[in-house]
Amino acid sequence: MKHILLITAALFLFGLSSCFYDKADLIYPQQTTCDTATVTYSGTVAPILTSNCNGCHGGTAGAGAGIKLDTYPAVMTYVTNGRLINSMLHNGKASAMPKGGSKLDACTINKLNAWITKGATNN
Ligand code: HEC
Repeated sequence: MKHILLITAALFLFGLSSCFYDKADLIYPQQTTCDTATVTYSGTVAPILTSNCNGCHGGTAGAGAGIKLDTYPAVMTYVTNGRLINSMLHNGKASAMPKGGSKLDACTINKLNAWITKGATNN
């Protein structure tokens, strides 16, 4: 009888500990962090543009009115004139992009902005 109690208690404690779940981003979804510290052109900016913009602004795609965002020098044209970030911010200072789509999430825009603020290096 004593053994059964001990085993039950052990299983209960083991069960309790296995229920401990501390993924903060799942428990507090509004507190997810946005890593803007390690942004690079090749690792951050190019993939964002490829997946959200270059269906129209990349390669031979004809839907982007001749505006190219698939090479560093081409992207720099729109960094320098401010239209890259303004188009994503939907602030009225450039055509709102992605065209016909909804604004990209704040973290994605923050990453792009961080890269520009740090000097928009070809890294
Ligand atoms: C469905 C096609 C399409 C997508 C997707 C798209 N664009 Fe565009 N973009 C256009 C067209 C067409 C124009 C030119 C007409 C205009 O300015 O609305 C344009 C213009 C621009 C301009 C110049 C705006 C200005 O006011 O001079 C910028 C900068 C730009 N796009 C950036 C982006 C970025 C960044 C994304 C992704 C977040 C994106 N675009 C996604 C079609 C697209």
